[in-house]
Amino acid sequence: MDAKKQNILPVTQADMQEQQASMDRIRQINDGYTLQNGRPRFAYVLTFGCQQNEADSEKIAGMCRQMGYRISDGPENCDLIVVNTCAIREHAEIKALSTIGQFKHLKEKNRELVIAVCGCMVSQSHRVEQIKKSYPYVDFVFGTASLHRFPELLGRKLSLGRRLFESDTATYALAEGIPVDRSHPFKAWVSIMYGCNNFCSYCIVPYVRGRERSRDRRAVYDEVADLVSRGYRDITLLGQNVNSYGKSEHMDYDFADLLKDLSGIPGDYRLRFMTSHPKDASDKLIDVMADHPHIARHFHLPLQSGSDRILKAMNRHYDLDRFLHCADYIRKRMPDCVLTSDIIVGFPGETDEDFERTLEALKLIRFDMLYSFLFSPRVGTPAASMPDPVPEDVKGARFRRLLEVQNEIALEKNREAVGSTLTVLCDGPSKENGSLMAGRTDGNKIVFFEGEPGDAGCFLDVRVDRADPYALYGTRI
Ligand code: SAH
Ligand code: SF4
Ligand code: F3S
Repeated sequence: MDAKKQNILPVTQADMQEQQASMDRIRQINDGYTLQNGRPRFAYVLTFGCQQNEADSEKIAGMCRQMGYRISDGPENCDLIVVNTCAIREHAEIKALSTIGQFKHLKEKNRELVIAVCGCMVSQSHRVEQIKKSYPYVDFVFGTASLHRFPELLGRKLSLGRRLFESDTATYALAEGIPVDRSHPFKAWVSIMYGCNNFCSYCIVPYVRGRERSRDRRAVYDEVADLVSRGYRDITLLGQNVNSYGKSEHMDYDFADLLKDLSGIPGDYRLRFMTSHPKDASDKLIDVMADHPHIARHFHLPLQSGSDRILKAMNRHYDLDRFLHCADYIRKRMPDCVLTSDIIVGFPGETDEDFERTLEALKLIRFDMLYSFLFSPRVGTPAASMPDPVPEDVKGARFRRLLEVQNEIALEKNREAVGSTLTVLCDGPSKENGSLMAGRTDGNKIVFFEGEPGDAGCFLDVRVDRADPYALYGTRI
């Protein structure tokens, strides 16, 4: 089947009723188990990959809870383990596979343990085959399109006993009404759309998450309003390319309209979104951000490369000029807006000259922060079969050079904040800096400061005293 023209199957009311019936059935079994054994059954959900996967895992955990499982924070002594995988780069897949490998001994200790693997990695047939052959202790596998069918699949596994491999040959439309078990007390993810239609030549996402489909605007509005009323302070709208919200549905209502309506919800909160594709980031969207204080002043706009030749080979549909227009307009309307980006180093055929263009672009645009990646060939994508004469050590040297250039820029940009007072949403005690609290600015920069445990979840004013390339350090005032 042509991946670009995938069928989209509806999710009917009957489908969702079937899931509810499965959840009720499994809950009965688990309640019986608790009565007999004096302990509940435990489930552990492990997530690799992006925020979209984090959001999906919160739904898996929500369904587990409705099925009577307690959510555990580790795999030991659990009755169900669900591994939600990522396929964006080879490293992500290797990490997931080696983690799954480590669960073998748990299965040997407890034959009744059920191990499920889901998400982007197993939305590829060669990985499903690999799990089937080499990981015999994995009980069932389901791809991203079958997320809402998790209760039905678990029910089938429990009653039939044999292994199940649900390979997705179609994309399902959106399923509403899946229970969510949010992992954070005051920060929340809200998926506004799924899938991607862009087929950047290096990227596996369109193949493993199917075609773009957007949620109904009312469903999104109600979810965000509910979160705000329950005290959520930081809400991130998620989609692979939020700027094409509503396009596949031919809605006469775009992402800028959605953001404007959401920012009218009264309350004490920040709205964020990711990711924006530079080809679709409109002046209208930037105007809405500038005019609505609930929308955080952070724009993540992945450039990928500063060379027009490489951008074309990447199938990105913009050139450096178009990108510069976006960046300039963002800074014109919001001089304090934090701008971050993604860069791929070592795309097939990237020459020294192409790479220099990227460095020049970084020096010109001056991103506050950069996520940089070495190109990783993904099975089935066009870039994986492009000739690539550049040796690995040259790519490594480019990567290090990129980090050097960016670190200098990030340090300069962070130092500009020294002396100013910023509003920081306190996350709680910092993991990295022992006695300090950690928080995030409106632009999503991390700030360390002395505070009290009760500060978590509060917006505080912090004066910035010093900076390094990765963080700000300040005093609460
Ligand atoms: N939808 C988002 C990106 C999702 S993937 C967007 O379009 O911006 C996040 C980042 O991973 C991408 O921006 C890209 O920089 C990187 N990436 C994707 N595929 C990759 C690959 N095959 N090798 C290396 N990096 C990759
Ligand atoms: Fe991948 Fe491109 Fe889609 Fe982003 S826009 S998910 S990089 S195909
Ligand atoms: Fe996200 Fe990885 Fe899938 S980045 S969309 S979890 S391939």
